[in-house]
Amino acid sequence: MPSPARDPQYRQSKARPEASSSISPGCKANRRKRKTGFVTLSLRYSGPWHDREFTYGRMPIVDTKPPLLIRYEQPSDGEQVRKINGAAFGRSDEADLIDRLREEKVILLSLVAEVEGQIIGHTLFNRMLIETTQGPVAAVSLVPMAVLPDHQGHQVGSKLVRRGLAELRERGERVIIVLGHKGYYPRFGFSPEKARYLGSPFPPDAFMAVELSDGALAGVHGTVRYPAAFGLSTGVPVS
Ligand SMILES: CC(C)(COP(=O)(O)OP(=O)(O)OC[C@H]1O[C@@H](n2cnc3c(N)ncnc32)[C@H](O)[C@@H]1OP(=O)(O)O)[C@@H](O)C(=O)NCCC(=O)NCCS
Repeated sequence: MPSPARDPQYRQSKARPEASSSISPGCKANRRKRKTGFVTLSLRYSGPWHDREFTYGRMPIVDTKPPLLIRYEQPSDGEQVRKINGAAFGRSDEADLIDRLREEKVILLSLVAEVEGQIIGHTLFNRMLIETTQGPVAAVSLVPMAVLPDHQGHQVGSKLVRRGLAELRERGERVIIVLGHKGYYPRFGFSPEKARYLGSPFPPDAFMAVELSDGALAGVHGTVRYPAAFGLSTGVPVS
């Protein structure tokens, strides 16, 4: 085993010049973060006769990000939920819609994302129906969904959706419908194709569905009926 401090060949192969830090007299321990998920531990000796650095180990990076908690909305969260929706959408329409949905008592699941006691994201799942000639089929609408602008792009929205879908699957729900960004919702399994035979007043490529139970939408041809809170007419039947 070569001695890192004495063997020049060892130093050449192992030393990482890009990681050198400012030279100061005496020994200095450097901890360098690497994208591989490890910290390389190195020691640098700087003195009048030597300027050496050698690595002596590595350890996994400890994630210091505060944990994200996805939990049920509590009655005391109402004001913060309003604020998040207002900030994410830049208007109060969605927050007002939530209030109407609460009054109509059609909310099945309301989840919030919390970091260090602060709510930074919110999503809502509501009861809706698909009207078919064989009778109504129960479905769930996912709307609205909001993450504070400063926290967007860090998987908060994804964790809310995934938790919601998992929970609703456990409860026996079979179909979730969303009107949303076609670049976003397909990652959770939503597709316009699945909603193809569901008449709605929305553009077909933004109107998507996912089956929580295989074949839940097989043979289901009908029109969607949203809660009255949306103030929508039912969709046009699709043949
Ligand atoms: C949409 C929203 C809820 C997503 O939450 P988020 O925490 O930022 O999303 P995530 O971090 O989980 O996912 C990030 C991904 O979503 C994509 N994304 C975010 N907003 C998007 C949008 N409007 N259209 C398409 N893709 C979008 C990002 O490009 C990113 O893609 P990548 O993973 O391929 O890089 C959030 O951006 C938001 O609150 N937007 C404003 C309100 C809104 O539009 N709500 C949805 C109505 S359908």
